[in-house]
Amino acid sequence: MNNLTKQPVYILAIETSCDETSVAVIENGKVIRSNIVSSQIETHRKFGGVVPEIASRQHVEVITLVIQEALEEAGVRPDELSAIAVTQGPGLVGALLIGVIAAKSLACALELPLIGVHHIAGHIYANQLVHELAYPAVALVVSGGHTELVHLPSPGEFHIIGQTRDDAAGEAYDKVARALQLPYPGGPHIDRLAHEADGEIVMPRAWLEADSYDFSFSGLKSAVLNTINQMQMRGESVPASSIAKGFQDSVVDVLVEKAVRAAKQYGARQLLLAGGVAANRGLRTRLTERFAEIGVPLLIPPFNLCTDNAAMIGAAAFLKWEKQEFTPLDFTAEPMLKLEAW
Ligand code: KG4
Ligand code: ZN
Repeated sequence: MNNLTKQPVYILAIETSCDETSVAVIENGKVIRSNIVSSQIETHRKFGGVVPEIASRQHVEVITLVIQEALEEAGVRPDELSAIAVTQGPGLVGALLIGVIAAKSLACALELPLIGVHHIAGHIYANQLVHELAYPAVALVVSGGHTELVHLPSPGEFHIIGQTRDDAAGEAYDKVARALQLPYPGGPHIDRLAHEADGEIVMPRAWLEADSYDFSFSGLKSAVLNTINQMQMRGESVPASSIAKGFQDSVVDVLVEKAVRAAKQYGARQLLLAGGVAANRGLRTRLTERFAEIGVPLLIPPFNLCTDNAAMIGAAAFLKWEKQEFTPLDFTAEPMLKLEAW
């Protein structure tokens, strides 16, 4: 609430960092008045991954329509808005720029403050749309572009304690899926196959140094690709589900055990799961079991808030609104934006 007037704070948020054009209207950082997501997945599927130039063009084509729809669905007039938020980075630079330009135009036309948001801060604060958060917290961010363990000592304060040294978890899922000739994005297909499997080809786990919270998935990915190649060379049929299970168990094992160790070390009052891979059933099940064992509440946003969306950007932007921390109009998209400096 805005303390002076008790009027609700409506933030219109824009997210265009990758292949989803999304606009949301968020009330007081918590209530989703609207969250429109226009996905380009069908366009990119034929190329087996996101084509940056095509992504930018599609954002340009739909952004104004998506803004209009978000306002209509929210039932909020432009003159009732308090601020415009936008993903500043990281992401594809051409894609980010479309959102940034749209946000600047709206802020100028409506004479509203701008709030630049880090994409990962958004993924983490998707949890705030469904639960009350408690600090200190630890977040496990697993998406197509990111794999990070983040310590949050207080609201809006982020310290990355571990990250991937090569492939992101979702990226490894998509590459293994491609080798098994599954459609893009491959994560959900591997997840399904792993659950149907009645055998398992055990794969290595990259624990790295004993005290490290970093991750590495490229060795695992190579192990899977080698297994598939060797079987094909020997003329054997490739047991996709046993391979999927071996791969998934390795990824889940490392993610979960490092998250448990981090939660204990940082005295976390909550573990916040974030990012598209949070949809993974194997990961959810193991995290639920292990966090129940150590008595730390586990928060998982619903699936539509795990994948890219603007509601999460509006939720994170509210933290800056509360501090009246605004972004100057001459800011630009930052494809390599650091989470600590968000
Ligand atoms: O967060 P997100 O929507 O986009 C990025 O910011 O990257 O995450 C997309 C990633 C893709 O790599 C996709 O394969 C993966 O999330 N994913 C899954 C599952 N559902 C989506 N990975 C594993 N299991 C799933 N069920
Ligand atoms: Zn994302």
